[in-house]
Amino acid sequence: MHIDIQWVPFPPRLEILSKKTIVVIDVLRATSVIIEALFQGAIEVIPVTTVEEAARLAKTFPRGSTLLGGERGSRKIQGFDFGNSPSEYTPEKVRGKRLILTTTNGTRAFHSVAAAEDVLVASFLNGTAVAEGSLQLDRDILIFPSGDEGAFSLEDVVCGGMLIDLMARKSHAAIGLTDASSSARILYQRFEGSLLEAFRLSSHGKDLDALGLGEDLFYCARTDVTDLVPTFRNGVIRAS
Ligand code: MLT
Repeated sequence: MHIDIQWVPFPPRLEILSKKTIVVIDVLRATSVIIEALFQGAIEVIPVTTVEEAARLAKTFPRGSTLLGGERGSRKIQGFDFGNSPSEYTPEKVRGKRLILTTTNGTRAFHSVAAAEDVLVASFLNGTAVAEGSLQLDRDILIFPSGDEGAFSLEDVVCGGMLIDLMARKSHAAIGLTDASSSARILYQRFEGSLLEAFRLSSHGKDLDALGLGEDLFYCARTDVTDLVPTFRNGVIRAS
């Protein structure tokens, strides 16, 4: 089994998507929010790329069944129920509801890999479960950090490196690492004991801090809070 990771989020070729398990990461904060919302009892999350699409889609579901969440410029979108802070998604608010989510990078990333059969959702909150779940699928793996407006993002590649480290240690079969995945693993090992340090060095971490959203960094740095392995299929993310 081979494990690769894209350090920058250009859309993978169709032949890659058709052969591999894809793992999408947006630690700060989209995949952390998705995992938290499902963990707190949301029935599903529909990631969409635009604010207009989110509002239009919400109207197609029965009243009271659906919540709108996400951000632009890291801030809550006017008229939406939630911003993009995981701590907002409490059981009282999300249990039994569908969440339609639109964010700058994270929700877009799902649409870049939509042609793949198996797309898993990862963050630090569910790292061990995703590493084990990916190995069980027994195919080559591509980790897909959603990055920052097309650019490299430190926190996502550190999280990818953690998954690679876990997979390499847990696999019973031989694992082949690419230069990209070996390098991500080394990067993770540098920050293993201090994920917050990586967040604070990252440009998005600094932006969130400057906006008064520094508490989200603590929230997103928690590891193995849940063993949910959400999957994205036919446009919808559900817990599995
Ligand atoms: C994104 O999808 O770009 C992020 O999650 C941004 C954010 O939460 O600030």
